[in-house]
Amino acid sequence: MNLKDMYINFFVSKGHKQIPSAPVVPENDPSVLFNTAGMQPLIPYLMGESHPYGTRLCDYQKCVRTNDLESIGDTTHHTFFEMLGNWSLGDYFKDESISWSFEFLTKVLNIPVNKLAVTVFAGDDNVPFDEVSYNKWLSLGIKESRIAKTVKDNFWIAGESGPCGPDTEIFYYKGENVPEMFDTEDDMWVEIWNNVFMQYYKDKDGKVTELPKKNVDTGMGVERTTAILEGVNDNYKSSLWKDVIELISKISNLPYEGNELSMRVIADHIRTAVFISADPAGIKPSNTDQGYILRRLIRRAIRHAKKLNIDINSNFEEQIAKLILDKYKSYYKELEDNYNVVLDVLKNEKIKFNRTLEKGLREFEKVASKDIDGLTAFHLFDTYGFPIELTIELANERNLKVDTEGFKAKFKEHQELSRTASAGKFKGGLAGNGEIETRYHTATHLLNAALKVVVSKDVHQKGSNITSERMRFDFSCDHKLTEEEKQKTEELVNKWISEGLDVRCDEMKKEDAIKSGAECMFIEKYPDIVTVYSIGDVSKELCGGPHVKNTSELGHFKITKEEASSAGVRRIKAVLE
Ligand code: ALA
Repeated sequence: MNLKDMYINFFVSKGHKQIPSAPVVPENDPSVLFNTAGMQPLIPYLMGESHPYGTRLCDYQKCVRTNDLESIGDTTHHTFFEMLGNWSLGDYFKDESISWSFEFLTKVLNIPVNKLAVTVFAGDDNVPFDEVSYNKWLSLGIKESRIAKTVKDNFWIAGESGPCGPDTEIFYYKGENVPEMFDTEDDMWVEIWNNVFMQYYKDKDGKVTELPKKNVDTGMGVERTTAILEGVNDNYKSSLWKDVIELISKISNLPYEGNELSMRVIADHIRTAVFISADPAGIKPSNTDQGYILRRLIRRAIRHAKKLNIDINSNFEEQIAKLILDKYKSYYKELEDNYNVVLDVLKNEKIKFNRTLEKGLREFEKVASKDIDGLTAFHLFDTYGFPIELTIELANERNLKVDTEGFKAKFKEHQELSRTASAGKFKGGLAGNGEIETRYHTATHLLNAALKVVVSKDVHQKGSNITSERMRFDFSCDHKLTEEEKQKTEELVNKWISEGLDVRCDEMKKEDAIKSGAECMFIEKYPDIVTVYSIGDVSKELCGGPHVKNTSELGHFKITKEEASSAGVRRIKAVLE
């Protein structure tokens, strides 16, 4: 049995309910591009909202961290990873949490106690020393010399503000002769599990207050722990990656040894691209937000494939993607559902990039006799499709610098000229979940309902994305909308807005919601008890919100674009004026 199954079985046996992994693109949190930790989709519940599955939860969550993309290529970092987590929402606290972690590690995974060490929170001006955790570890047989009291890294928060608390981290010694004394600076000790005792909330001004309930939030990385259990000192040599690396080695006809960096980049980036493009959000490569990350991942993988002399015109990316899809699809249904979408995304982006890659590399060689100025970097981006990070990487390989500020200035100038996304967007930052986004959220439901009336009752939502400037809606439809269909849709939405329809939210059993005819995009993703938003009697959808109270708050609705998204899926962009 693999680690994921053992973990879930264990926590289910301790009264936990397994919850499904949330999509990698957060559904109701436009402030982040991707879920970066298992707790992220659970924030409302850690803040006190009651969770439909109860107070003891466990899962494996898909996470994407791309803030340090260039560090990928070492033995332990990945842009995509799975995080195992168990949670107590005001249920058990330190005692059970620590006992069960210890039991799982020593009894289920059979790790000798002597290989373990822990850190506990030493205390600071706001939060006292975590004596309870310290004593608990001692009582379980962890020696004093293996318990480090530290402040650094022992207070966990996702980002700047949110639910948070002191944590206790569990470390494993990778070598044979385990030293008596635990040294947090010694790389042979690797952190495998983090138990956060979330009892505080830190607001944007840094003020710390108590949460209504004392929660537990834990996280264990599947990749790292699997490698450790299998005794390999390179994650890519573990059973999770071995076959992918072997395939890349076969395709390139080169050994892993000596070509580690490029092979790891290809394996890592293609896997992440698979998961992003399979996500229900329907992300496609682009120059903004998640789409830009997806583009960079695919293009960087292709560049490294080229370095290994892989024939870019072959279907190498498809072979690798298929291996990954087949490995994970029993755990993540969206991989099965979007199997061909993923292959198309990779192939199309490859073709696009490949058209200019050769010429771009030649162009780069021409200008690479000195540091790269902003205009040149922009030229490489605009004409040859080189993401700035690729130019930086190529420059680094030659010890050259790139004027990124100059590049950004050129980029901004260009954006202003073409009136596309705002400069802030380029950095990947999105607007907050504010009033404007809430209005777009409600307008999305109206558009969905209007398309069903005007175009066909078989129209279903395939994806949606909202920023403070516009809404985007993908839906199943076999034809390009006619002018008349677009106009009628617009008119109907505006009619409903002018009627001042009330928006109502009801909690009900999932099966009742479905029976009542509520619209729902991914039925299996929802828990047994769901929230259903109704707008007058024109729309009814399973949804987490937030929404306006009355459609009169929306303003004037206007479709700005209608285009193809993928096979059988159309995309509408619209604004509220
Ligand atoms: N949320 C904690 C982490 O990601 C468990 O480490």
